[in-house]
Amino acid sequence: MTANELREKYLNFFKERDHAIIPSASLIPEHDPTVLFTTAGMHPLTSFLLGEKHPGGKRLVNVQKCIRTGDIDDVGDSWHLTFFEMLGNWSLGDYWKKEAIEWSFEFLTGRDYLGISSEKLSVTVFAGDPSINSGQATRDEESAKIWESLGIPKERIFYLSKEENWWGPAGQTGPCGPCSEMFYDTGKEKCGSDCKPGCKCGKYAEIWNDVFMEFNKTAEGKFEQLKQKNVDTGMGVERTIAVLDGFDNVYDTELFKPLIKKIEEISNKKYEGENIKTFRIIADHLKAATFILAEGVEPSNVERGYVLRRLIRRAVRYGKQLGINDIFTFKIANVVIEMYRDVYLELSSNRMFIEEQLVREEEKFTKTLEKGLKVLEKMKPKKTISFLSKSFFTEYGLSGDVLFNLYSTYGFPIEMSLEEIKKLYQEYNREQGVSITELTKDDENRILQQFHESLKKHQELSRAGAEQKFKGGLADHSEHVVKYHTAAHLMLAALRQVLGSHVTQKGSNITAERLRFDFSHPQKLTLEQIKQVEDLVNQTIVRDLPVKMEEMSLDEAKEQGAMGVFESRYGEKVKVYTIAENGKIFSKEICGGPHVEKIGQLGHFKILKEESVSAGARRIKAVLE
Ligand code: ALA
Repeated sequence: MTANELREKYLNFFKERDHAIIPSASLIPEHDPTVLFTTAGMHPLTSFLLGEKHPGGKRLVNVQKCIRTGDIDDVGDSWHLTFFEMLGNWSLGDYWKKEAIEWSFEFLTGRDYLGISSEKLSVTVFAGDPSINSGQATRDEESAKIWESLGIPKERIFYLSKEENWWGPAGQTGPCGPCSEMFYDTGKEKCGSDCKPGCKCGKYAEIWNDVFMEFNKTAEGKFEQLKQKNVDTGMGVERTIAVLDGFDNVYDTELFKPLIKKIEEISNKKYEGENIKTFRIIADHLKAATFILAEGVEPSNVERGYVLRRLIRRAVRYGKQLGINDIFTFKIANVVIEMYRDVYLELSSNRMFIEEQLVREEEKFTKTLEKGLKVLEKMKPKKTISFLSKSFFTEYGLSGDVLFNLYSTYGFPIEMSLEEIKKLYQEYNREQGVSITELTKDDENRILQQFHESLKKHQELSRAGAEQKFKGGLADHSEHVVKYHTAAHLMLAALRQVLGSHVTQKGSNITAERLRFDFSHPQKLTLEQIKQVEDLVNQTIVRDLPVKMEEMSLDEAKEQGAMGVFESRYGEKVKVYTIAENGKIFSKEICGGPHVEKIGQLGHFKILKEESVSAGARRIKAVLE
């Protein structure tokens, strides 16, 4: 089965069961400044799981692009990926366990759908946890019974604890709950008598997760019962395709084969033996980097930009290991764009930006790599070191600060420095015929902690004055974010009035402290234009106009001249937010919301900075005072 077939089958299956198909949201969480990337299909739906009404109704389905960086060390094994697509269906206070599980089972095993033999399936359910909400998260006998009624025997239903069978929240707070996971038995031998779903040996491949979200984790770490009982499910496209096509890893699927082939062509090496992991990491990282770049993110030393930089640089370094010496990352990115262009339209529309950024970053990195490696080379242990020493790192003052300097001077990501150091020490071990010179986990943790402290200091220094550190609680926090969200609509409208209708939004990034907004415009704004935009926004704010929300089809929204970014071809119903006075429209945008009800509460709008972000695009940083 191809990925296209799987996506279509899934969406249609749930559409036939009254689910509205919604588009994949951006990889950049719009309303959750606590997380860098969208990590699951439910993530952009947080406010709806908490009770806000969704324009699509109470049953939703989509394909969501996701990035997870927590598992980066596992990348290269059979199943872990940085970028992946998640199929998901949701009940917002509508159906519950019975329907969710029965539909999962029907889709997995039905002959018209995936046709997996039910004998190959094992499932898990929640074992209960007395510590949650005074014992309200109990042993999930209900789900187990439903699985049994579908013919899954008791021996293949496993009760797992909170560590394994509790999902969420996606950020630091939000909806979460116990889950029931579905595993495909790859047919491998059990690795031991204890081998069961959740074991990492590769026998059981997790393909789908039904989460029963009836709790909300608060900023204080408490779990409170949600007003509505939600279902959140997630099925990994790559894993499912691998299983259906009889592969024991995701890289043999059509979602990776073209990338592996291209790397073989560029490196003149075969995807075999020791090279396999290197190929996989390059393919994984550059696919993720391409999707992140398509959102307008640039490599940098902070936050998302830093993750992006790490991915690109790691791929380049592994490329060098394969003997690739020419600039190559953009070539892989082009294969990614071709593979996914019909599903994620933002890829080809940002092709130039993606290529430019990759070439630039790769050149920059190649230049500094040599310098950095020389510094690291000096850290190699001297032959005179006492063999009794347990930790050379402690003894020789190799600290996170040293590695921070390496990072800030040469752009060496910390993980990479650590890997390089490990390699140097292994070399030393080989030369000396000893094996005590290892980087212990304690050393590594200490170094990482020091590194992050230095990084934080550095960031605080560079931010001091420009941004006030956010001190409020979480409620405060999201309130600010919502205000900035509405301010972004006002600003886009003002920019179009002042500069012209060629101005469209290229991206935005909102924190509780400021708004960053990228838009298309060929020249620098004059001081006068900046003033005009500010004035126009402020004059509108003081009129305290209401923000009106309507739900309509995408075509209707376009007809009404609503502005908006459409990223996926699967979207149907959308929310349109309008700010108007006596029928005269100031702003009309397609947007997920939420927004303030009346704009008077935004306060005073001020532009702090206007600068170039790439050819033809400008960036504004603005605050509400
Ligand atoms: N949110 C759930 C997951 O990511 C479905 O596994």
